[in-house]
Amino acid sequence: MSWTTKDIPTQAGRLAIVTGANTGLGYETALELAGAGAEVVVAARNPDKGGAAVARILTAHPAAKVRLELLDLSRLSDVAAFAERIAARHDTLDQLVNNAGVMMPPKRQVTPDGFELQFGVNYLAHYALTAHLLPLLRRGTAPRVVNLSSGAHHTGQIRFDDLDWRRGYSPWAAYSQSKLAMLMFAFELDRRSRAGGWGIMSNAAHPGFARTELIANGPGDHSVFARLNRTFMQPWMSQDAAQGALPQLFAATSPDAVGGGYYGPSRLFELVGPPKVARVAKQAMDQAAAKKLWEVSATLTGVSFPG
Ligand SMILES: NC(=O)c1ccc[n+]([C@@H]2O[C@H](COP(=O)([O-])OP(=O)(O)OC[C@H]3O[C@@H](n4cnc5c(N)ncnc54)[C@H](OP(=O)(O)O)[C@@H]3O)[C@@H](O)[C@H]2O)c1
Repeated sequence: MSWTTKDIPTQAGRLAIVTGANTGLGYETALELAGAGAEVVVAARNPDKGGAAVARILTAHPAAKVRLELLDLSRLSDVAAFAERIAARHDTLDQLVNNAGVMMPPKRQVTPDGFELQFGVNYLAHYALTAHLLPLLRRGTAPRVVNLSSGAHHTGQIRFDDLDWRRGYSPWAAYSQSKLAMLMFAFELDRRSRAGGWGIMSNAAHPGFARTELIANGPGDHSVFARLNRTFMQPWMSQDAAQGALPQLFAATSPDAVGGGYYGPSRLFELVGPPKVARVAKQAMDQAAAKKLWEVSATLTGVSFPG
């Protein structure tokens, strides 16, 4: 399979929300969905960066229907307020791309709600956002939810006794947990959608190694991690953000993508290349753990899915 953006079917008449759409993979996803005719909500926390992204999309596609809606995923009250504004304006939603994320802050950080930053922003906020938007998704046309995971999920474990890394914070292990949680959530949502007849296709994607702001925003440009990446990884085993966004665009739009699917690049250990079905770690298929994570997330966020 050598799938490209030319294979995206028309998205005319569809409403899409992309979180973290002001830059990186989220921006490329919003750009392509808008170019294919979808009405796109750029969900971003920074008004200047979000506004600039909307302007760039309109420059590329002057007829695009695209707008900024502010969303700070570190605050569950903001997630709820965002969903309320969306529901006040739209009856239905056809695509939700849970893309935003932060990777490996060197020191443990907590959100204003008290969650470890990566667990809170990458996973819990997207769990809550999806739950808030479920009624709109259920009324959507062939609705899809796409969660961003990562190759890092392979090394992840869900630390049920310390989800917020109060003990022995490890930037990589905490990131891996959050990305494993995103994959388990995608699969569990698909199972529950099938069982409950919600009609929502839920799947997941990862970009391999894409050159975005993720390292600069996390470990920092001067970190050992960044230097190692610049020397050994980026020159040989990375791709630009547009190429990195293909798996999530495939998951969001391709008629060949399936519920419960996981998509990533096809070459060099899934680091680069056109999208294909990606490898799933054994722990991501643990249905008992996924059910437990779902229930814990409802308790932690105070937001539940029906039945
Ligand atoms: N790049 C890779 O190689 C790679 C590999 C595996 C997985 N991923 C995943 O891909 C996704 C996109 O990452 P990227 O590579 O495109 O990184 P990026 O360029 O750093 O973009 C991350 C986006 O998330 C947003 N964000 C961070 N914290 C937020 C918050 N509290 N509220 C709202 N938005 C927030 C950022 O907003 P600001 O601009 O305001 O900070 C930005 O729009 C992430 O989930 C990441 O884990 C990336």
